Parts: sequence; C-alpha cells; structure tokens
Amino acid sequence: MLYERENPHGGDIYRQPVRLDFSVNTNPLGPPPGVIRAVESSAQLLDRYPDPCCRELVGALAAYEGVPERFILCGCGAAELIFSYCGALRPGKALELAPTFSEYAAALEAFGCQVERYALEEENGFALTEKFLDALEQTDCEVVFLCSPNNPTGRLTDPGLLAEACEICLRRGLRLFVDECFLELSDGGRSASLADQLERFPGLFLLKAFTKSYAMAGLRLGWIAGPRELTERLERQRDYHIISVGRLDDLLASVALESREAISTRNLAICREGGRLLAEFVAGEPHISYVKPKGGTTAFLRYDLPMESAELCRRLQEETGVMLLPGSALDMEGYLRIGYCNDPGITEAGLARFGEWLRQF
Ligand SMILES: Cc1ncc(COP(=O)(O)O)c(C=O)c1O
Repeated sequence: MLYERENPHGGDIYRQPVRLDFSVNTNPLGPPPGVIRAVESSAQLLDRYPDPCCRELVGALAAYEGVPERFILCGCGAAELIFSYCGALRPGKALELAPTFSEYAAALEAFGCQVERYALEEENGFALTEKFLDALEQTDCEVVFLCSPNNPTGRLTDPGLLAEACEICLRRGLRLFVDECFLELSDGGRSASLADQLERFPGLFLLKAFTKSYAMAGLRLGWIAGPRELTERLERQRDYHIISVGRLDDLLASVALESREAISTRNLAICREGGRLLAEFVAGEPHISYVKPKGGTTAFLRYDLPMESAELCRRLQEETGVMLLPGSALDMEGYLRIGYCNDPGITEAGLARFGEWLRQF
C-alpha cells in the first residue's frame, strides 16, 4: 500500500512483516518516563471532555516558545494542522519546495489549490539559495510553504536567507508557512526558529509537533503559532471536525514538555551517531550517494540501479525486512528516504543488511 502512494506518510508497519523500519523519521528513544507514568495514572480522566483550548498546555508552550498564548493553537498532530490551515485559508495558488514533505501538497490540493513547486538542486546540496528570493519576488502564489530542516533532504535553511524571505513575503503580502517540526533535532536548531518574527509578520505561521522532537508520534499532538486572526480561522474550521485534541494527549504533552531539556540532549546525541553511521555506509556503497543532511532525522539517498524506487523498496523489504521510503512517494524517482536516527544498534544492523542486499547488483 505504501508503495502505491496510498500512505506516503510512512510508518505503516502493521500490515506487513517489517523488522527494521527506516521509512519513518521519528525519534527512536521512546516517550519520556514521566509520560509513561502519567498514562498509567490518568485513566480516570477519560470520562471527561477535554479542554477545547488546551489552556494549560498552551500556557507551557507559549512560555517555551516565547510567544503570546493567543498565538498558539494545538491540533491532532502536525498533519491535522496542515489540513486545517489549508481548509481555513483555501488559497488559490501555493508555492512549495521540491522535494519536500508530501502533505502540504496533499492538503492544498484537497482544497482545490494549485501547487507550484520550486525545484531544489542536488548540485547545490538541495539548499535554498538567493535564486529562491527572486522566485518570491515574482511569484503570484498567495502562500509559501517551507520546511526547515527540510524533509527528506535534512537541509536547514540559512537563517540570513530565511530572514530575507520573511521580508519579501511581508512586503509582498504573501503568507509564509514554515514547518519547524524537526528544528530541535538539529544542532543549534532552536535558535534558528522564526518564533521571534511572529509579532511583526502577520502572515507567518510556524508548525511544530511532539511527534519528532519528543518521540511521541502516537500522541497526535502538534501546535501551530501564528497571529490570532489566523488561528481563530483555523479553530472555527476545526471545531466542526474534531472539537479538540484528546484529553490524554493534552495531559501527556504537558508532562513531556517538562522533560524537554533532557530529551533534547539525548536526541541530538542519537542523531549525530546515526549521521556518522550513515556517512560510513554511504562512503562504502558504490551504488549510493547523498548530500549529507545538516539537521532533522532523514537523508535522501540517490541510487544508480536500474529499478524504480517503489520496486527497490518493495524487494528490499520483502527480502530483508528493511523498509525505506521510495523517492516516488515524494515525486523524486531514483532516490530513497532513510530515517537514520534510530537506536544506533538498529541503524547499524539495518544498514548492514541493506549493504549486503546491494552486493547482488
Ligand atoms: C516535515 C514534517 N512535518 C510534519 C509532519 C507530520 O507530523 P505528525 O505526525 O505530527 O502529523 C511530518 C511527518 O512525517 C514531517 O515529516
């Protein structure tokens, strides 16, 4: 199913015998211990409706991000907020990077939006360059979607360039949606957040989630930070569909936030080690090359085998139990996305198995 694009999100380990899942880009460490304890003790809360505004959690997030509480809206994972944003705004035309996370286009198109793609060049390490600023000056799109670090390439946007992009969007009245879900899984990432621009740039929206940085994909809790005028529109759009996030999700997210320093330190150590193992692997594989990621948890591997990426991933998974995300799921044939920030033992074992499998070619 995954390889037929029905589930480009990755992580569908339930329908097939996957032993080593590298198709997703989640954090491998498991939830913080305080969260596990809170799950055990909070079952009695299930008879109550949740706080529709997640007041306590929003207060903690606002303090953490250094933005006013009224700017923050929680949702059921980042994906729900992407869809709510597109549904509330219904832009006619939007600009996104290529390659990038597939759900921006999926959500935009679901609401009838035309999606224009700005191609990142592998020769430039998939980085955004000055040329992108020219594209912003000329675009007739109403909204621009950026992801930093970008999924799947792991490239962080240069802070200077991002600041200039903000200025152009502000001057031209374009909305800017920046996905920062992986920012804290990047060295120095937190300081690269655009949170401090929110009060002066009314068209700016930032997306975050507990999914990646806190290893809590199962929680389905994300938040968006943007001007109240916009978050209100999202709230109205959402109220009809889901009312609020789950009671336990709300509570557990607050508990997780209390452990943020410890988990962030451990996360970065895991990411660095995974990056080192991947670099070693790529250096020894004649069929694989890549642009070294600078942040996040994914890398985009180029391969030179006469096989489509979906077929390669299907065979690899069936023959070894190792699952990667095919480039075709991101409209980039000839590539594979690997989530390399697993437990180092697992990453090592998976890469070894992948390497052995590649020996047949
Ligand atoms: C860049 C990026 N943003 C957002 C998400 C969505 O996260 P969630 O699982 O919280 O919906 C993902 C998930 O893979 C992602 O890669």
